[in-house]
Order: sequence, then C-alpha cells, then structure tokens
Amino acid sequence: MGNNSATFGLNGENYEYPVMSGSEGPDVIDIRKLYGQTGAFTYDPGFTSTASCESELTFIDGGEGILLHRGYSIEQLAEQSSFMEVAHLLLRGELPTADEYSDFTNTITRHTMLHDQLRGFYQGFRRDAHPMAIMCGVVGALSAFYHDSTDINDPAQRMIASHRLIAKMPTIAAMAYKYSIGQPSMYPDNELSYTGNFLRMTFGVPAEEYVVNPVIEKAMDRIFILHADHEQNASTSTVRLAGSSGANPFACIAAGIACLWGPAHGGANEAALNMLHEIGHPDRIPEYIARAKDKDDPFRLMGFGHRVYKNYDPRASVMQETVKEVFAALNVNDPVFDVALQLEEMALNDPYFIDKKLFPNVDFYSGIILSAIGFPTSMFTALFALARTVGWVAQWNEMISDPGQRIGRPRQLYTGPKQRDYVPVGDR
Ligand code: SDX
Repeated sequence: MGNNSATFGLNGENYEYPVMSGSEGPDVIDIRKLYGQTGAFTYDPGFTSTASCESELTFIDGGEGILLHRGYSIEQLAEQSSFMEVAHLLLRGELPTADEYSDFTNTITRHTMLHDQLRGFYQGFRRDAHPMAIMCGVVGALSAFYHDSTDINDPAQRMIASHRLIAKMPTIAAMAYKYSIGQPSMYPDNELSYTGNFLRMTFGVPAEEYVVNPVIEKAMDRIFILHADHEQNASTSTVRLAGSSGANPFACIAAGIACLWGPAHGGANEAALNMLHEIGHPDRIPEYIARAKDKDDPFRLMGFGHRVYKNYDPRASVMQETVKEVFAALNVNDPVFDVALQLEEMALNDPYFIDKKLFPNVDFYSGIILSAIGFPTSMFTALFALARTVGWVAQWNEMISDPGQRIGRPRQLYTGPKQRDYVPVGDR
C-alpha cells in the first residue's frame, strides 16, 4: 500500500494496514482484519486510542479546545443559535430555514405530552427517589407505549421515535422534579418555546400564571446547547452499543441515561457543586487542592479534567460568562461562584494541574447557574440528560443508517485460570 498505511511486525511477520483520514482530526489505522491475520487483539481498555465509528456530527480538538457541531463552533452556536436549531442541525444535518424551523418546532411541540398512564408510573417511586433513577425508569418504559415507532429499520419510525424522545424529555424531567416536591405536574403549553415550556412545567403551578423570564429562558436554552452532543463520550458510546443489537430507541436512550449518571461523567455537575459547597470558603481551597493531588486520597476536583480536552473546555468558558448574565438578571450573588473562580485560578497555576493538563470542564460552572435558577443539585444530571438526548438520538440514527454497522462485541485479554477439571465438593 502507499504512504497511507501502517506496518508493524509480530512474531517475525510483517503486517500492513490502511490508514484512513477524516475531514478533521487524527488519522485512523483500519485494523478490522488484524485479529484474522495476526491472531492477536489490540488492547485499549478505556478506548483512549480507539475510534469506534465514523461520524459527521461533532468534532473535538482537545489540544486546541475546539468543539464543532456539523462544522459550526460551539461558541457561535451558543451565542447565535437556539437549542431547537441545534437539534435540527444534529438530527438532519443542516441549520434549518425559517420554514424548516417552524415545521420542526411544531412537530416537537406536538409530542411533548406523556401517555396519561405514565403519570401513574411516577407513583411507584419514593418521593426522595433520585431524578436520574426516575428518568432511567420512565424513558425505558416509553418502549411499552410507542410500538408504532420501534421498528428501527423504518426511517420514518426512527424519526418519530427521535421526535418523541426530544419532545418528552422536558416533560419527564419536570414531572420528576414536581413529584419530588409534592406539587402537581404541569401539562405542556404549546404556546411556549421548547425551553420556556420546560421552565413553566418545572417552576409553574396550576394556581397561578407562570411568566417565563426571557433572560433565564435564553440562559437555559444556551445550557442545553452546550450539552447537546460531544462525540463518542461514555453515554453516547453506550447508546450506540445498545443500538447495535437492534434494541428499540427508548431502551437505548435509557441505557445512555444510566451511564451519564456516573460522577465521572454527567454526574459531575451535581458532584462539582456539592464539592464547592463543601469547600465553602476560598481559605479552604488549598486544603482541597492538596487532597486532589494526593495519590492516597480518592478525592478529585469535580468538574476538572477531561479525557479529550487537554486545554480549556470551550463549554466551560461560555458557562462562566452565563453565570454572570444570570446573576445580573436575577440580582443574586452566590459566594460559591467566588470559590469556583478562585479554585480555578489556583488550580490552573498549580504544576500538578498544568502538567496533567487538567482544566475546568462543562460541569464546573453549570451547577452554579442551575442552582441560581432554582434547580436542586439532584436535578442537574437530569438536565444534562434532557439536553444530551438530542445528541444521543442523532448518533443513534447515524449508526442505524450506516449500512456497515454491526453489533458491537469487543474481545478481552484473558488472565483467568487455565482449563481444569471439576472437583466434587467432598474432595475440595
Ligand atoms: C463529562 O467524554 C466526554 O466528552 C464527557 C463530557 C460530555 O460532554 O459527554 O465532556 C461530560 O463527563 C465531563 C467530565 C466530568 N467529570 C469530572 O469532572 C470528574 C473529575 N474528572 C475526572 O474524574 C477525569 O478527569 C475524567 C474522568 C473526566 C477523565 O478521566 P481520564 O481521561 O481517564 O483521566 P485519568 O483519570 O486517567 O486522569 C489522568 C491523571 C490521573 O493522574 P495519574 O494517575 O496520571 O497520576 O489526572 C488525574 C488522575 O489522577 N486527574 C485528576 C482529575 N482528573 C484527572 N486529579 C485531580 N482532579 C481531577 N479532576
């Protein structure tokens, strides 16, 4: 093969594999025939050096802190676009024209209601159930209600299921919050925007009119944009792996929600705010930075570090600016923001964080904004899941539409006992 190939030797044999180039980012070595030809597997437990698929949706340059959705920078989308425009961009490939936008938002709006029997589903949970436990359960249960959109081989049914998931996540999340505080859930209001409707379902009550604050609506919509999609992160990879078996889209998204819940992933926004409150005062920051550096202490600075970003997460920059806007709009000031700013300043000047290229990520500031808007920390990851559903369904559609996709089935390095004979219990 030409210069776009990789060669290596194993057990005295030389092997050559094609190198593929994308439109941006690192080349990939196509090793699909490696096991058949060499009898050996590659070994990459955290998939640090593994490309699991081809995708046109999102590009991340971790070294430069660049995030693009179908070529548009997250900074421009956060500043100039809307979450529904970004949903259309990710799902259908282009920013919508005015007519396409109207059609898309009308379609989503008309799928925001839940089947009324699902309202009873919530009664089975304790009031103090974590909202992510409810999200896992309710989204998985959607499979039982929408048999007309579970044939994954029918593009029309795939799109209906995608619209239903995007549309119903705000209703499901808002109902989880209302259930936890003992208030009646609010039905969607089709006159409101996607995000305005979510705010009303969350903070409105049947006893009085709820007026959406446009500054908070814009900030919330921007937070949704920042969380929409992020290449092949753990929860997206979970959705793709579940989808590769042919599982229905509702089950796949429920799997993604379960994975996102982990504190190393989407659960970090809840953990980061809890950490900032535990630190409590700038004077205690050095103590926590020392703990984060201590190999014998499992404590990590939550909201810091990233598998891909070895520079500032561009979403964290936008999030920090949004804190200032929301504080000004609500005329609030939370001392925890000062703790966050000083923690960032001290960490980014500490050799440990500099050497390991640990910067604030999307989860570091988001909790401060969400708390100022009125969400309890337990709702933070549910809001992440609400927004990431757009990316999950877009990635799922891309995978299902790929004629070359096969069931995902990794292998292993076996280190267990060699074959041995059974010993009857009397002889053990
Ligand atoms: C998200 O993948 C995505 O795109 C995810 C996400 C998305 O949009 O989908 O961006 C959302 O999940 C953001 C990340 C949120 N998680 C956190 O903030 C939790 C705290 N961060 C870490 O646990 C960690 O940084 C990860 C999980 C984010 C990344 O883990 P990696 O890539 O496996 O890195 P690592 O754990 O191997 O750490 C490398 C080194 C280690 O030290 P050494 O063993 O090399 O000496 O850096 C250290 C770690 O101990 N380190 C930290 C740290 N993060 C890494 N030390 C202190 N504090 C931290 N936060």
